[in-house]
Amino acid sequence: MKGILLAGGNGTRLYPLTKSVSKHLLPVYDKPMIYYPMQTLERCGITDVLIISSPKHLGSIAELIGDGNELGVNVSYAVQPSPDGIAQALVIGEKFINHEPAALILGDNIFIGDEIEHKAKKAFERAESGRGATVFAAKTDRACEYGVAVMYGDTVERIVEKPIYPLSDLAVTGLYVYDENVCEYAKKLAKSERNEYEITDLNNIYISHGKLFCEVMSESVWFDAGTPDRLLETSNFMRLHKLNKVVI
Ligand code: DAU
Repeated sequence: MKGILLAGGNGTRLYPLTKSVSKHLLPVYDKPMIYYPMQTLERCGITDVLIISSPKHLGSIAELIGDGNELGVNVSYAVQPSPDGIAQALVIGEKFINHEPAALILGDNIFIGDEIEHKAKKAFERAESGRGATVFAAKTDRACEYGVAVMYGDTVERIVEKPIYPLSDLAVTGLYVYDENVCEYAKKLAKSERNEYEITDLNNIYISHGKLFCEVMSESVWFDAGTPDRLLETSNFMRLHKLNKVVI
């Protein structure tokens, strides 16, 4: 399985911290943020990774990560000329994906615990045997900040991006596993009202084909570290985790 790590965007919710520095290089306790999604991919067994970032920040990310050797992965790089949406990563990464299944992880998403590895491996099998794509959901009390999965039993009926009135408390996290159709579907997307190619629209295409699975995480901790409060919360959590004061 190949992996794309998306680490562009403007990081405006963290201004002025991110005015000159990529959000993905900010410290999360004792490591740059991007190390965590890199390690998640590596722990899931993904060794070929394409990092996509903005023209402004790709150089500093490459300076940190290099060829990925130190983190146990082979890394290549691509530019997203402007932050036109998460789903665009699957178009930019088309050659890298090369008609194979692929995983996408967002550079500000931090998964703690080994549940994600087990669930991801199940998802890889599904994608590789043509059964479809998988998203991973986590319970949240801030559903309106995320893509929200509306479930009917084990089936995901639809995903709604940042709903004002969420119909569930299940946030769709920033790890996605797709089958070999993903680039074709991503190329068909139109921009949303907020002028982005939405990952939620891509996932809803899979739902319309009856091919989106949702793995609900119950034993792990997940953070989207993209705001000042969440960044601090994530750092504090990682500190306690490292000092073994948090068991998950
Ligand atoms: O964290 C999970 C959430 O991530 C999902 O629940 C949402 O459905 C999904 O849309 C996304 O929401 P965010 O508002 O958190 O996305 P954000 O704009 O913060 O972008 C997530 C990461 O992707 C971040 O590391 C920056 C990067 N990015 C984003 C965009 C829009 C890019 O590299 N390029 C882009 O064009």
